[in-house]
This record gives sequence, C-alpha cells and structure tokens, in this order.
Amino acid sequence: MSENKPAAIYLKDYRVPDFLIDRTELVFDLDDSVTVVTSKLHMRRNPSAGRITTPLVLDGGEDVKLIGVAIDNYTLPAEEYHINAEHQLVITATPDQFLLTVETVIEPQNNTRLEGLYRSSGMFCTQCEAEGFRHITYYLDRPDVMSIFTTTLIADGEKYPTLLSNGNEVERGVSDEGKTIVTWHDPHPKPAYLFALVAGNLQHISDTFTTSSGRDVTLKIFTEPHNIDKVDYAMGALKRSMKWDEDVYGREYDLDIFMIVAVDDFNMGAMENKGLNIFNSSCLLARPDTTTDDAYLRIEAIVAHEYFHNWSGNRVTCRDWFQLSLKEGFTVFRDQSFSEDLHSETVKRVEDVSFLRTAQFAEDAGPMAHPIRPASYIEISNFYTLTVYEKGSEVVRMIHTLLGAEGFRKGSDLYFSRHDGQAVTCDDFVKAMEDANGVDLTQFKRWYSQAGTPRVQVTDEYDEQAQTYTLNFSQMTPATPGQPTKLPVVIPVKMGLIGQDGSSLRFNLAGETTTETVITLTQGEESVVFEQVAERPVPSLLRGFSAPVKLSYDYTTEQLALLLAHDSDGFNRWNSGQQIAVNELQALIAQVQSGESLNQESALVSGFSQLLADEQLDSAMVALILTLPSVAYLSELAEQIDPQAIKTARDHLKGQIAKALSESFASTYERLNVQEAYQPNEAQIARRALKNVALSYWVASGDEQAQQALVNQFRNADNMTDQYAALATAVDQDLEVADELLASFYEQWQQESLVVNKWLTLSASQTSAEGLGRIERLMQHPSFDLKNPNKLRAVFAGLTQNVTLFHDASGAGYRFLADQIAVLDKRNPQIASRLCTPLTRWRKMVPSLSDPMKSALQQLAAGDLSKDVYEVVSKSLA
Ligand code: PHE
Ligand code: ZN
Repeated sequence: MSENKPAAIYLKDYRVPDFLIDRTELVFDLDDSVTVVTSKLHMRRNPSAGRITTPLVLDGGEDVKLIGVAIDNYTLPAEEYHINAEHQLVITATPDQFLLTVETVIEPQNNTRLEGLYRSSGMFCTQCEAEGFRHITYYLDRPDVMSIFTTTLIADGEKYPTLLSNGNEVERGVSDEGKTIVTWHDPHPKPAYLFALVAGNLQHISDTFTTSSGRDVTLKIFTEPHNIDKVDYAMGALKRSMKWDEDVYGREYDLDIFMIVAVDDFNMGAMENKGLNIFNSSCLLARPDTTTDDAYLRIEAIVAHEYFHNWSGNRVTCRDWFQLSLKEGFTVFRDQSFSEDLHSETVKRVEDVSFLRTAQFAEDAGPMAHPIRPASYIEISNFYTLTVYEKGSEVVRMIHTLLGAEGFRKGSDLYFSRHDGQAVTCDDFVKAMEDANGVDLTQFKRWYSQAGTPRVQVTDEYDEQAQTYTLNFSQMTPATPGQPTKLPVVIPVKMGLIGQDGSSLRFNLAGETTTETVITLTQGEESVVFEQVAERPVPSLLRGFSAPVKLSYDYTTEQLALLLAHDSDGFNRWNSGQQIAVNELQALIAQVQSGESLNQESALVSGFSQLLADEQLDSAMVALILTLPSVAYLSELAEQIDPQAIKTARDHLKGQIAKALSESFASTYERLNVQEAYQPNEAQIARRALKNVALSYWVASGDEQAQQALVNQFRNADNMTDQYAALATAVDQDLEVADELLASFYEQWQQESLVVNKWLTLSASQTSAEGLGRIERLMQHPSFDLKNPNKLRAVFAGLTQNVTLFHDASGAGYRFLADQIAVLDKRNPQIASRLCTPLTRWRKMVPSLSDPMKSALQQLAAGDLSKDVYEVVSKSLA
C-alpha cells in the first residue's frame, strides 16, 4: 500500500467557507501546447464564518502551474504565498474584500484523467464535477461557494470555430493575433462544479421551445460533423423533458439558450453544467441502424435527467458532497417518473427495480456499503454510486408514496421556493416535505444515515369465524461496515389481497373498505389485522416495489402462479414469475454443486405456455416475464456465489423451457417478425422485445430452423435492435456461426465507434479457446483506445460477464483484471476504481474462488495507488 495513506473526510467536520466569491471572470487562451488561464475572483470574507484571521486557501492540482498572483493591483511576492502538500495555494494575508487575480498554465492535451480541461477527439472540453475545477485554476472548489461566472475563450477560429461556455454569448471579436474571442456570461450564481467550456469544430442542430410563460428558448445540440445525423432523437427528448418538468413540477427553464455537446471521451454518462450539458456520445447519439431500443430509452432518460438537474441540482444545489443524493436521488426519481409517464409505467418500474436489486443490493451487502448520505469518504468520485443514485431515488419515491402526489408536489414547490439560489442539505429537503404537509419524518430520516438493505419477514393467520386476516411483520437491517447495529426504518408496504379465483378481495382496515392500501411499518415487529375478509387470501405485498427492502413470505408455487396470472399489480405479476424461477434455479444450483442430475420439472413451462398463447397481453410485459433472473441477480441472492454453478443451472432451465415450448416460441417469433419502418415507439419496442426473447428460446431449443432464422435476421435487419439481438444470442448460445457473425458485424460497423463498443463487449464475453489471450488481443485491436472510457468499459464488461474466463479457478482472470487496473490507475483513477467492483465481492465467493480473488486485491494493494483505487481496495480488504 502507498506510504501516505490518504485521509478520510467527515461530514461532521463541515464548516462554512471562510471566503466567498461573488463574481468569477475567467479568460482561457486555448492552444494546442499550453492553455493559459487568467482568473479574476471578486472575493470577500464570509460574514457567517466568524473567523477573521484565517489565511486564504484555494484548491488546486498537481497539473496546474502557477504563473502569478495579485491582490487588487498588488502583485504578491513569493514570500506572501505558497503551494502546500495538497497542491493548495495559501495566501497568508488578505483584505476583507478584494480582487484576486491568478494566472495559471495547464496542458489539456496531456490530461488523461478526464477531469478539468482536456482534449477529446480534437476538441477541448471540461468536466468539473465533483472536484475537477481545481485542475483548471486555483479556486474555492466546493459546492457551497456560488459565484456569477463570465468566461472568455480565445482560440484559433479556423481550428475551433465553436467556442461555448455557460449562459449567454455576450461578446465576440478578434484578437491582435487574429484569434477569435468569445465571451459568455451566466447570470445565475453557481458552484465551480457546474462550470463548462467547449472549443471545437462542431456542427449543431437548432430548435426552440416556448415555455409556459411564453418565453422562447433556443435549443442547440452539437457534435462532431460525422455524427450530426444522430442527434434528432435527443432534441425531441429534450423538448419532452422541458414540457414534463413544467407540467409535473411547475419548473420552467431560466436562460435564453440551452446547449448539449456530445464528446467521445467521458468518464461518466453526462453532466448537467448550467446551460451547457456535456454528454458521453454513447448517451446522446441515436440512429435506427446503429442504436438499440434500450439505448433509445436510455438516451431519453439521460437527456431528461440532466435537464431536470437545472432545478434539482443547479438552482438548488448541494452544500457539500455528502449531500450528493440530494440532487442525484431526487433527479433519478424525476427521470424515472418521466419515463414511467411517457411509456409503460410497469415495464419501466420492473427494469428499474431489477437493476436496483441486482447491483445496488450487492453494493449494500459489500465492503463499500454506505448510506445514501455517507458520513465519510476518502475520494468523492467513489461515491457516485448506485446507492446514492438508485437507492436515493427509492427514498424519494417512498416520500412520494407516504405523502401522495399532491402532498409531494406541495413539498417540492416549497423546497424550490425556499432554497432557490442556495446550497443545501438532505435535511432541508425533508424539512420542506414536512413543513408543506404538516408531518413528522424524523424516523424516516434513518434512511439517510443507515446503510444496508432491510429485510422484512411476513407471516399470516386467517380466522374463518371472525373473517379476520392478520399479517405479522418483522424487520431488521443487517450490519454493514462501521454500522454494527441498526434501528427500525419506516417502510411503506403497498398491498392487496387476492382470492382463490384471482380476484382482488375487499377488506376493512381502520374503518375503511378498500382493495388496496399502504401499510407503514415503523417497528421491529408489528401486526396488522384486516377485517371482513371473505376467504383466506393470498397476500400481494410490496406492490410496485414500494420500498427498497428484501421482503419474504413463504409462498407456495401455486400461490405464486395465482399472483402471476391475476394480481392487479403488474409489478407483482412479474415479480411472482421471477420468484418461481428463483426458487427453481436455487434448487438447480444446489443440484449442480452436489453433482446430482438436474431436475426436469418446471412450473414455468405451463405458465409461459399460457403467456405465449395469449396474444392480447402486452408483449413488453410478456418479454420481461419470460426473461429468467440474470446470473448477476442470482449471485446477489446467493449466500456463497458459485458463478459456474449458477450459469449451468440457468442454462439448464432455459434449455428445458425452450425444448418444452419450442413450437410456441417458433410461432411467436414468426407472428412478430414483421417488416415495418423502424420507430422507437411503445408498440414496436414491445414487439421487438418479445420477438427477440422468443428467438433466443427457440435457438436454445436446438432447432436447426431457429439458427437459420437468427442468421437471416442478423443479415437482413434494418435496425440495430434486431441485428444485435441475433448476434448476442449467437454468442450467448455459443453457436458455431457466432465467429463468422462477429467478424461480419465488425466489418460492417468499423466506422461507427459506438457500435464497435458492442462488438468489443460481445467478443470479450464469448467462450473461446484463446482464454485471456482473446482479451489481450482485443486491447491491441486497432479499434481499441486506452484513452476512451467507453472502450475500456466495453472490454471489461465482456470479461467480467464471461463466467468461464473471469472466474477460472486458477484465479488468472482476477489477476489479469488487477494488473490492468494497476496500469490504468496511472492514467485515469476514476475509471480504474470503478473496474475494481467485481473484485470487492471476494468475501461472498465460494471458498475456491474467494482466495484467489482476495490475492488479486492484495497484489493491487501492494502497489502505489491513487486515492480512488486505494479507498476501494483498502475497504475491501479491511
Ligand atoms: N452529475 C452527473 C449526473 O448525474 C454525473 C457526473 C458526475 C458526471 C461526475 C461527471 C462527473 O448526472
Ligand atoms: Zn445526476
């Protein structure tokens, strides 16, 4: 481990800033070798800091070269300032109010971390969240310092005709040397993490949106010229987002222009910089022949997410980074609700919950478990997590469920009006919800401070004489690192009762007769008695997944089948089908592990057969129900993870269902395999989803004709959804033709970088004789680029999904990943740190894999690590 162990930062140590920056004037002289940044900060002591003799300490980075510092018109001599070990600029004495001028030099072309100002395929761009701005110039780089920014860009107008920053363009001219000079002004005070600039040779499309109060806003989306044919869909998504935020939250856009720029090299998905969102091109560009249905929906959701941040994040921002979920949890909730409103609510909910239960629950059960508002961190970049985002969204959703849509809207209105222009905390958010509704959410707030996924156990009794039905609940949250004991949390359980014939039973609760209710659990143990219940019911619990918990009730397969067929709640219909599959798969996994021959009975056969026969059902829901729980989800559920046994069991069950229903899958495929002009709309997406699930089963049945259909679909598809589905099935089912199809896919799409990423993932996930040599070859392939996070993610996603290769008992797969992380850590610590996730699961692996996985981590720990990787590795081994 590195000698200087990086220190943790604690929420309890928060102090208001000693200085404020009222206005920030930046001048960037952009050049291919060095960029000169001149910063003029209009500063004063913070009256609420109460400390009057502190030095001025500005954040900086090792990659920032200081040229000179002046206060007002006085150039500071060397003895009046210094740079400390944390790369901060320390100025010993300052007046109460002053103009600080700082000149720095940076080299964006050598910036491989992709934080601060860097180059991506010929353009300059920035990424400042969370602490990237300090890699541009010295600053109070913390979200509670909000300033009005004016930014001037100076660049060669031939090479960089597009010069953008936040706010409105206010001036344009030419310098003495003939360079283009453009000045932007953003009237809204903002923290430095929302600053952005872009300089490049870009094309754009334009549109306008008229706000509810009648103002016209100009909308522009910029890309490199070769991608300009892929931005129309995002523009439509942006307009839908603007309208929805007005309709549902009463939030209007607040500048005259809104811009989005696509860049190829980006650590994350996208960034909500004020008035100038910057997107990973993979989250923005769409065209039917290169983009799958899933990607279309994801692009729409991300465009919405970043746009919604304009209020939930920018107008009202975070006081400190411990409050990250204040903006992220809330904004994810907003984008999920948007997609639910525009498309199928149930389908969207199923997808979001699947993701949460697979990935966030695993995080909550591992060494990096943390509450949605963490109490400490070493490197904040490590806390852009599924917990802060997805669980954070679930916590906001629970408030919505508890208060109802109207109460929630009253709360959000109060939150936005009370805190407009401020940097606030999660407590402030909850307080606004409380005040607007006259409720007390004190206990509810435990969701913000306790990590781990609560477990809820449910038992029941029916009294036929009295016609009463009792549900007994008990809850407990398992220990997580640093939190050995937990208190009971508030858990809203939305539920109903189902009769033997599948109908929704009426019941009386607290004097009210109804068929659906929300029970709010608050105790370790409690019981609820339902009256006037006409027969022994089957309970339908946690409808719509009304709380992020693991709920268990001992259902029989027949009861689950009843819910699957009849529950009025679509989410629970799906969930019941999944539960049947999970039960069967867990039994099969045990059989694989003990070397028994595998069971040949499955209740799913008759259930699926009925689904396939009923053409009236929503195809999208049928496709979801037919999809067996993933290896990743089954791993999360396992007490000890045996990836090979899980995969064997899953392949077995899939093959068994496929063989039993081969003809139904074939006819479903034929029925849905129709030609129509591609549209990413509801009906078509649903049809393609079911068609391609049917194809994968039909192929899994071993039918020769299915393979022929697959090859035809691959060759004749006019859209990426169908072409990719065929290819992915060929690879997944290990068909002989897979190599040929992969090669022809690359041949066809080698010019389309985003499509090549799909090829990289599938190639890396393919079972092949080459072993890890295959991965090495992919990383040497001309299409691979170590600078590009999407390429790295593509290959490593393929590798880690490749059960046979990655989880080889020799530990070679784990060592390979550890070696790659160590190398990458020198270039891009954020990406290196994220790649560690699969290795953090070592304690949950079966003993034969646990040891080699742990040694791979130890091998990493022995090297000289960034703060990012150090935090993950040291916490994983602790
Ligand atoms: N704030 C961005 C988002 O959600 C995520 C992000 C974080 C992007 C850090 C870049 C760097 O929406
Ligand atoms: Zn966000």
